[in-house]
Amino acid sequence: MDCIQITGGVPLDGEVWISGAKNAVLPIMVASLLCDGPSYISNVPHLQDVTTTMELLGRMGASLAMDDGMRIEIDPRGMHQFEAPYDLVKTMRASILVLGPLVARYGRAVVSLPGGCAIGSRPVDLHLRGLQALGAEVSVVNGNIEASAKQLKGANIIFDTVTVTGTENIMMAAVLAQGTSVIENAAQEPEVVDLAKFLNAMGAKISGAGSNTLTIEGVENLHGTEYSVLPDRIETGTYLVAGAITRGHVRVTRTRPRDLDSVIEKLRETGAVIEVGEDWIDLDMKGRRPLAVDITTAPYPGFATDMQAQFTALNTVAEGTAIITETVFENRFMHVQELQRLGANIRVKGNTAIIRGVDELNGAPIMATDLRASAGLVLAGLVANGTTTVDRVYHIDRGYEIIEEKLGQLGARIRRVASPRKTR
Ligand code: EPU
Repeated sequence: MDCIQITGGVPLDGEVWISGAKNAVLPIMVASLLCDGPSYISNVPHLQDVTTTMELLGRMGASLAMDDGMRIEIDPRGMHQFEAPYDLVKTMRASILVLGPLVARYGRAVVSLPGGCAIGSRPVDLHLRGLQALGAEVSVVNGNIEASAKQLKGANIIFDTVTVTGTENIMMAAVLAQGTSVIENAAQEPEVVDLAKFLNAMGAKISGAGSNTLTIEGVENLHGTEYSVLPDRIETGTYLVAGAITRGHVRVTRTRPRDLDSVIEKLRETGAVIEVGEDWIDLDMKGRRPLAVDITTAPYPGFATDMQAQFTALNTVAEGTAIITETVFENRFMHVQELQRLGANIRVKGNTAIIRGVDELNGAPIMATDLRASAGLVLAGLVANGTTTVDRVYHIDRGYEIIEEKLGQLGARIRRVASPRKTR
């Protein structure tokens, strides 16, 4: 197993390009099962979750090919198995996304019920209720969700809570339903919009993507298409925070600034000087210590929960006290105890963390618990004195392409090494 070793203290300086968005490419790959021929998806990031999705689709009988390294061809014509087994679902919860497309296109699906995870209990009840509203028979047997339907029928669905993959799952199911479906209280995340654009490019009729109401007119079939995935706003935000926390100057390119309004606003509050172009963002701290910023996470266009750990890290060395309120996932403060090992002053009460900025952090061995938590830990390592070793980096490989190379390009002293042997 690998870990990431960082010697902190270098103000980052330079330019870094942004990869395709993990949380868009996963549903888009899965949506390609809905059509009758091959689809070509480009700007695909090299991530463990993409590999897991390829394995999942391949096991079902889809044929997949990667050409120039960033484009995948997915041809679902060989599909013969309609199951997402536990060994894959437990490594990637997003496997639940196959449920809607399988039932809509092939009439049946067996998907292992995802358990809880490091950031919260994360039920999928809204996915199941949405599918039932479209007319599917759904039951949970021996830890598996079993769903079937001869023909889904359009329906009105109102989600109790905004759910990103829930919206995506039901949207993918509804595109092949008979009649019109309306999803209210739908997620408005850019990744949901990207999926809707991909589905429309395949011949679906979805309107309202990006608002809280989606209207989907069912069609009889969909055709393969070509699509380029949008840039990753969370990766973008993470590199901007890397610039801010190290009092450096970072320019991110090949990104889409309009998806980061709330993050840019908060970074400006820290004292960063930010310029924005069509596909780049330039952040310059001018050598100054960041000021503390309060954050409350919320569904888009609110402040993304996926950026919370990174801002928690930033606040540990900021001037002043910050209050972070996590409203999306109940247990997303696992990084706090690790940051405390570096000397951070953080108190957690319920869904709130109070962070008093300290003058310096000191390197230590620490452990990643989930994807975004590990990004927060790497950021803290960039400013800690001496060496910080972040173990269990497989979490980070799920969502950040070549992070050590990209940070290295910005001047960070960072390398991937084999984890020290464990003794019992
Ligand atoms: N919820 C329910 N019932 C459901 C579904 C969700 O109660 O049936 C609750 C969840 O427990 C949570 C809230 O609704 O409290 C929002 O969860 P959501 O369903 O939106 O999360 P998700 O779709 O499972 C996606 C991203 C996450 C991201 C969240 C929130 C993907 C593949 N995953 O998860 O990304 O944090 O939306 O924006 O799109 C990550 O990339 O590290 C990551 C965890």
